[in-house]
Amino acid sequence: MADVLISPSILSADFAELGAEIRRIDEAGADMIHVDVMDGHFVPNLTFGPPVIEKLRPHTRKPFDVHLMIAPVDPFIEDFARAGANILTVHPEAGPHLHRTIQAIRGAGMRPGVALNPGSPVSLIEPVLEDIDLVLIMSVNPGFGGQSFIDSQLHKIAAVREMIDQTGRDIILEVDGGLNPKTAPRAIDAGVTAIVAGSAVFRGGPDQYADNIAALRPS
Ligand code: DX5
Ligand code: ZN
Repeated sequence: MADVLISPSILSADFAELGAEIRRIDEAGADMIHVDVMDGHFVPNLTFGPPVIEKLRPHTRKPFDVHLMIAPVDPFIEDFARAGANILTVHPEAGPHLHRTIQAIRGAGMRPGVALNPGSPVSLIEPVLEDIDLVLIMSVNPGFGGQSFIDSQLHKIAAVREMIDQTGRDIILEVDGGLNPKTAPRAIDAGVTAIVAGSAVFRGGPDQYADNIAALRPS
C-alpha cells in the first residue's frame, strides 16, 4: 500500500493557541496542515482568512492544504498565495468560471485543487482534471467538524480514482469529513491518497496527537 498523506484539520484545534497546535501536529507526524476557510455564506459557519494563515505560516514548514468554502474565490487568490498557502482547493459551485479560477491559482504559484460536495457529481471535475493537482471528496456536508462519514461517497472515490489513473498524472485524491480509524481504511481501499481529519486527530489532547495520526495510516 502506498503511503497515505495525513492532513489534520485545524478546525478542531484550540483556536486560542493555533500556532502551538500547528507545531504539535507537525511534530506528531502530520504530512500537511488542512486549513478550512469558511465565509458564513457558501457554508453555514465562519472561520478565518489570509491574515490568520499568514501568522500561522512560520509555525511549520509542512504544506498548507487550504480548503476554501467561500464564494466568490477569485478576489482572494493572491491574498492566500501571499499568506503562504501551498494547495488551494475550491468548490466548483463557488463561481461560474472554474477553469479561470484554477488558472489563477496556478498563476499565483499554488497547486490547485477541486472539492466535490456529497451531492456534487464527478462530472464537474472531468473537464479540469488535466489542470489540477488535488481532488477533494467531501464525505460530509461542509461547514462543521465532528459529523458522520457518508458511506455513499466511497463509490465516488472509486470513480474518481479511475478517472485520475486514466490521466496518468500525479493527482492527490483526498477525503474530508468523518474520517477516523474505522472509516479511513475504507476510504484508502477505495483509492484515496490523502486523509483529512479534525476531531479524530485532536481528540484526547496534545499527548494523543501522534497516536491519533498513526491510527489513521494503513496498517
Ligand atoms: C468540514 C471541513 C473538514 C472538517 C473535518 O467542512 O472541511 O475539514 O474539519 O472534521 P472531522 O474530521 O471532525 O469530520
Ligand atoms: Zn476541509
